[in-house]
Amino acid sequence: MAARGQFSTRIGFILAAAGSAIGLGNVWGFPTNVASNGGAAFVLVYLILAFLLAYPVLMVELLVGRHYQSNPVNAYRKLTGNIIGTIVGIIGLLTVSMILSFYAIVGGWIVTWCLHYFAMALGMTDAANWLVAFGNTRNVIFTIIFFVLTAAIVRNGVSEGIEKWSTRLMPLFFLIIVLLIIYVATLDGAGAGFRAYLTPDFSIITDPELIINAMGQAFFSLSLAVGTMLVYGSYISKKENIVSLGIWVAVLDISIAIVAGLLIIPAMYVAQANGVQIYNEAGSLISSDGLLFSVLPSLFETMTSTAIIVPIAFFTLMIIAAVTSSISMLEVPVSFAIENHNLTRNKATMLIAGSILLISLIIVFNFGSLFGLVITATTEWSQPLLGLVISIFAGWLWHRNNILEEIKQGNPDAASGLFFKIWPWYIKFVCPALIALMFWRSL
Ligand code: PHE
Repeated sequence: MAARGQFSTRIGFILAAAGSAIGLGNVWGFPTNVASNGGAAFVLVYLILAFLLAYPVLMVELLVGRHYQSNPVNAYRKLTGNIIGTIVGIIGLLTVSMILSFYAIVGGWIVTWCLHYFAMALGMTDAANWLVAFGNTRNVIFTIIFFVLTAAIVRNGVSEGIEKWSTRLMPLFFLIIVLLIIYVATLDGAGAGFRAYLTPDFSIITDPELIINAMGQAFFSLSLAVGTMLVYGSYISKKENIVSLGIWVAVLDISIAIVAGLLIIPAMYVAQANGVQIYNEAGSLISSDGLLFSVLPSLFETMTSTAIIVPIAFFTLMIIAAVTSSISMLEVPVSFAIENHNLTRNKATMLIAGSILLISLIIVFNFGSLFGLVITATTEWSQPLLGLVISIFAGWLWHRNNILEEIKQGNPDAASGLFFKIWPWYIKFVCPALIALMFWRSL
């Protein structure tokens, strides 16, 4: 078997892991949740849960990954010493594959929207309209294209594929999002958007629905519990201070969610100032796919002066967000196939990308019944439940000495730090209790 890959630099890991975390969840899911869950009230609950719950679970995955230097199936098997670990690893692997199967469909739509604006610029109106009309042919073609993009990166391996492309694309992402925010802020109506975003409706802050949405959003956004961060963690050198790496990733991801809100929510109010409807019949802000594929495009249509460059920048931003996340999803089953079934990386990538593509196509052809179902089952159920199980694994089954040793690798002064003193205890009692409590309340 070939040697395991490794991230070649510290910043390479940070950008790859932040690239995984920063995705459609930040640029689309988060603003959507804000729009439908009381504005800044959601932001506040999200912030609390992200630091109190998601960051500690992120550290479980990074530490377990680096300690066992292996994919989630092997790592959890070794950690538990029995088949339960294997099963949990496999469930994670299946969950992330299902997430990729719907993510790639959405990724395909984003590519079509980007091309739509190029076609418009070239005066190819028919093609432009076909690109954004919902249809099976279009969905199939662009889902395939999205898989090809993803597989083309993953087949080149950890440092030559994932790390290289994350280091190229993520700085561009940061640049585009800042430029877009500055631009949108200058438009009429943006002020009302900033106010709506930053004024909390505290009356719903204890609503179980809001809390469970915030927890799901935090788990999804940090790519948790499905093996992604574990696999990326397994490619971190023992020389690195993993506690600070984890903080970097969490802070970048959480900040980009908040920053994306500063772009999307004001943009909706600019659209309203231009005559676009942004509230639905029930009186709440239009969210979800309506936001991305109807409100924002209507906004772009009203911006004739700047025409094509703004929407192209926006959908390029979304493509970067989507691809740097989808590669991290594909890497989980690929690492398993390489390590447990002795496939070459190239073969493993083709085989697995092809299989998940088949699942995507099944969803495309049964869109009405499957699309929403797969999203709910994976992100609202599987991810938080797996989060519960792996924090129990780390808290109760992993030898305390192993954990402490792993934290100290690359971080000799760790023992005097707060993380070292609090986290093992926190992950043992507080995390499982909090997650279980929230589940129970949502039922
Ligand atoms: N974190 C990614 C996003 O916000 C989604 C993701 C989930 C990536 C699970 C990997 C694993 O879009």
